[in-house]
Amino acid sequence: MIKALRGMKDTLPPQNDKYIYFIEKTTEIVKRYGFEFIETPLLEDTSLFKRSVGESSDIVGKEMYQFTDKGGNDVCLRPEGTAGVVRSFVEHKFDRAGGIYRFFYHGPMFRYERPQKGRLRQFHQFGIESFGVDSYLEDVTMIVMLKNILDVFEINYELKINSLGCQVCMPPFREKLVAFLDKTEGLCEDCLRRKETNPIRVFDCKNQNCQLLLKPAPRLNQNFCNECDESFTQILKMLDSLDISYEVDENLVRGLDYYNKTAFEFVSGDLGAQNAVAGGGRYDRLVEFLEGRETPAIGFAIGIERLLEMIEVPKSQRSGFYFGALCEEAIEITYKEADKKRVSNRVTMGYSVRNLKAHLKAADKANARFCAIIGEDELKNGVIWIKDLVEKNEVKEPIE
Ligand code: HAM
Repeated sequence: MIKALRGMKDTLPPQNDKYIYFIEKTTEIVKRYGFEFIETPLLEDTSLFKRSVGESSDIVGKEMYQFTDKGGNDVCLRPEGTAGVVRSFVEHKFDRAGGIYRFFYHGPMFRYERPQKGRLRQFHQFGIESFGVDSYLEDVTMIVMLKNILDVFEINYELKINSLGCQVCMPPFREKLVAFLDKTEGLCEDCLRRKETNPIRVFDCKNQNCQLLLKPAPRLNQNFCNECDESFTQILKMLDSLDISYEVDENLVRGLDYYNKTAFEFVSGDLGAQNAVAGGGRYDRLVEFLEGRETPAIGFAIGIERLLEMIEVPKSQRSGFYFGALCEEAIEITYKEADKKRVSNRVTMGYSVRNLKAHLKAADKANARFCAIIGEDELKNGVIWIKDLVEKNEVKEPIE
């Protein structure tokens, strides 16, 4: 038997009602904030991810579904959504037109990680990207919107936030950090690699020994430039005034290289070891890295599978009609009536002749509100028998 690949899952009914429920509710919310739908291809040029997510990241370094296609192109299944949206933004010259653009998307992402609870090789994200606004209030809005989404689904979460500095304060800080790391013995191999490629990622190391060794390391938030200091303080002040609780987590550096300034994650104690339900941040340089005009930008993505783990869908109410025929001669007219009703109702039909009990059972299974039946008597009298499966009453109505 051929089975789905490791780390890849079918989503089957009835559980995937949850998926649709989540997409519909979340779409409704993000549209209220002015976001519009965008869709980009699942397959992109590999260099896109190397230049954006970054060669030093685990995603690009270890986890890409990368291959050469029949035309000899080096391509890659997208490991995340931001890079493709920025590529599209530049390709379609939104950066040249100027102004503000707000996009949302959802769909599958691919990372060749070791599968475990909450970690798949094909998973789904609902993502948001906002271009053209550098006000700290956009950062606040991202967090408020994400909080509102998680609240609608009654998720327990904690918000972790940090700032990663900018092109003014980051380079001198990086030098200080590298000087510290050069003096520090006993770092793990990953940290030694990070020291060469993207030193601040050492703070993300899960190795206990590295965490101890890094305790006396210089910290970015003590080395901010005035602008970064001021905007981070303003964001925290606004969150305070909105009564949104958060923890400033100095170790939160995110696993993708394109971030600067604000970075945040929502984690939930109701998940296992993979507890990040959503994450995001600012990436003011990325449009430029991909050869566009400098454009401030910020976004986040929700891990849909992780979120669905934690939500209940309100049980769907009975709705619409089930149609069935009791004799061969009634099938054609039953079919036609079902088809007419479908213009404005949810309708299913049992195609074969069955007795009343079997049709009622099928109507129940189809979660229909009404069971509509035509048999020999009904044909003769030009009527249709209808039972309301909620109120339990029944009527005969003229077919026309
Ligand atoms: P990310 O933190 O890599 O960010 O992923 C966002 C969310 O996707 C995570 O918080 C997690 O819930 C989910 N996720 C990631 N990997 C897996 C996996 N292997 N299995 C299941 N769920 C997973 C990004 O991808 C950025 N593009 C977010 C962003 C948008 N930043 C700015 N704009």
